[in-house]
Amino acid sequence: MRRAIFPGSFDPPTNGHLDIIKRSLPLFDEIIIAVLNNPDKNPLFSVEERSDMIREILPLVMNGGCDVTVDSFSGLTADFARRSGATAIVRGIRAVSDYEYELRMALMNRRLEPSIETVFLMADEEYSYVSSTLMKQVFMLGGRVAGLIPELVEARMRDKLKVQP
Ligand code: PNS
Repeated sequence: MRRAIFPGSFDPPTNGHLDIIKRSLPLFDEIIIAVLNNPDKNPLFSVEERSDMIREILPLVMNGGCDVTVDSFSGLTADFARRSGATAIVRGIRAVSDYEYELRMALMNRRLEPSIETVFLMADEEYSYVSSTLMKQVFMLGGRVAGLIPELVEARMRDKLKVQP
């Protein structure tokens, strides 16, 4: 059984996240999308709202071969991965600028849990500049984010921020 976790803030989930999930499906039997419970970072969406959004957009990429579930966690990613019985942590890399931060996290996670490997997947170049932070900023300032986040996520942002369509 090849089980992986895909941890992140997902505030909100983007098409870049979905692209990474789609690419990880053929590699694992089971993937747990692990939403970080990070109230101290003052997220736009609660951990429940983020988890629900992911559950609702998952059908956009599911192909039936891999079991994908959504869970949330607090504390260390490495601890959550061990508790979940995962042997891999999936992370997406968009550009070289992601590499240094991701390398530090991967090495620290390996030190904490030597049996768990971090697997880096490259997002489609179409999403190489897409981040949750940028999406929120552009959306709040009235810019177009269609095609970069799922329609459902855009609707939830509109509701949350009381933005007119
Ligand atoms: O989507 P993000 O914000 O890039 O995800 C970052 C995340 C959640 C993977 C990272 O902040 C994390 O693992 N946080 C949990 C605390 C932890 O394990 N920190 C040490 C990492 S080496």
